[in-house]
Order: sequence, then structure tokens, then C-alpha cells
Amino acid sequence: YSEKDLINKEIQDLKDKNLKIGLVPTMGALHRGHLALVERALNTNDKVVVSIFVNPTQFDNGDDLKKYPRTLEKDVDLLKTLSEDNILVFAPTVDDIYEGNTVAEKFDFDGLEHEMEGKFRDNHFDGVGTIVKQLFEITIPHNAYFGEKDFQQLQIIKKLVDKYHIPVTIIGCPIYREDSGLAMSSRNTRLKPEYLEEAPFIYKTLTSAKNKFGIKSANKVTEWVENQFAKNELLELEYFIIADTETLKPVKRKSRKKSYRAFIAAYADDIRLIDN
Ligand code: PAJ
Repeated sequence: YSEKDLINKEIQDLKDKNLKIGLVPTMGALHRGHLALVERALNTNDKVVVSIFVNPTQFDNGDDLKKYPRTLEKDVDLLKTLSEDNILVFAPTVDDIYEGNTVAEKFDFDGLEHEMEGKFRDNHFDGVGTIVKQLFEITIPHNAYFGEKDFQQLQIIKKLVDKYHIPVTIIGCPIYREDSGLAMSSRNTRLKPEYLEEAPFIYKTLTSAKNKFGIKSANKVTEWVENQFAKNELLELEYFIIADTETLKPVKRKSRKKSYRAFIAAYADDIRLIDN
């Protein structure tokens, strides 16, 4: 489906039949990480809407938007391998979604939007909020699936649903990795061979940092990670932060009562990779 009235009609049909709808929002260039989300959705819903839309308002970098891989036909073929009948692909155009006014709504996510990715990508989460809210309105899903790969995004979507009282259950799914440990990402296809080979360094460093965090302070671990990256000639660290899982604020003093997660953003050439 490309146009909104087509998908609206289809959704109304499913609602009339009392069918349970799952939504998996994506920007396409699907990989096994995306497919794991779709499989999870197929397990507990009658129909799964997979949206494929490279959302311009969440890109702060025009070049990244232009070079974002677009592989719609291949994506549809991949989805067909999961189910011939129970997946609806919604692939709108920019005009279908923004109707000639490609700007994002402004959101207040109680400060979650100012941490990490929010600091380095201007207005990114306004763009994400705008498109995901609209996708919820169009597809009216019972359940929606998001990867922990974009952990901050997942927390922000939970906040969005809470604030706007949107009746959808948000399900977070684990990070799907290559055998090398590299988190799967549509942007990985743009990595030149030597960078692709080096990129698992991000996960390796995260794993060591996790072990060190058992004994060392967050500051000491951060210093160690920054040193590791300083010695790496191919990857450039943008940030490493150990943050409170709930507030996403950097940990100051460790507490047994809280849970923490470490986050990395790094450049491989001009390609920005994140992991946690
Ligand atoms: P995209 O990067 O295509 O990711 C779509 C969904 O797949 C997100 O929920 C993301 O966290 C998840 N995902 C990506 N790589 C993953 C991996 N290796 N393991 C597990 N899950 C993974 O995130 C977006 O698109 C957009 O911001 C979107 C939510 C669609 C709004 O435009």
C-alpha cells in the first residue's frame, strides 16, 4: 500500500473482522534484525503492518538522508519469506505523509530527548515522534515492535504512547548481531571493507566496558573506552556514556537499585554507527 486511504480501508476491514494488528515501523533496507521484529509480531498478531518509509524529518544530515539505502522490492521479497498472507507493507511517499509540509511536530519527552542522540542529532526525536505517532494513527495497532538497537528511541516511544494515551503495547526486542558482534544496521551496507572489518571493535569495547563496570567507576570505564578509541585509526568515537536505563542520564554514583546501560556512537569513515 502506498496511499493512506488504501491502508485506511484495509485497516478498517481488519478492525471489522476483530483481527489483532501488529506494527513494525522501519526505514527499509531490511536485514535480519528487522525480520526478527516482524517474526515476533507475526507470533502474536493476526496481521502485521510493516511500514517502510525513510522519514526525512528525523535526519539532521542531508547527505545521510540522500545516501540512505532504498531497496523496496528486495524488502518485499524478504518479507514474503516470512509470510505470504499476513504481512501488509505500507510504503508511503513523503507527500503521502507530510502533504507538502515536511516539518516535524515539537515534542516534550520529559528530557529523554536531550540525552545522547538528542545532543548530537538536532531535532532527531521530533522527527521520530512525528512519524511514529502518525503511523499509530493510521494503523491503529494493538502491539508495536521496536529494537533495543535504538534504545533511546524505544524509551521515547514508550513516553510518547504514555503522554498521548495511545492504546498500543510497545514491545522492545533484543539487538540482533552479526557473528562478529557488529549490531545489524541498514547503514552497514555502506561500509567499505576495511571499515566493516573494524566495526565489531565497537561491540568488543562495549563488552569489555561492561565487565570493567563491575569493579571500576563509570568515569574510569569511560576513560578506558575513550583511550581504546583514541588508539583506533579507523573508528572515531562520538560518545560513550553509561546511563541510567530509565532516565538515560549519565550515571554519577552507582546504585544497586538501578540498572544501567552503556551507549556508543562512533564514526566509521562518514558513517555513523550506534550500539549499546
Ligand atoms: P530503522 O533503523 O529501519 O529500524 C527499524 C526498527 O528495527 C527499529 O525499531 C530498530 O530499533 C530495529 N532494529 C534495527 N536494527 C536492529 C538490530 N540489529 N536488532 C534489533 N532491532 C533492530 O528506527 C527506525 O528505522 C526509525 O527511526 C523508525 C522507528 C522507523 C521511525 O522512522
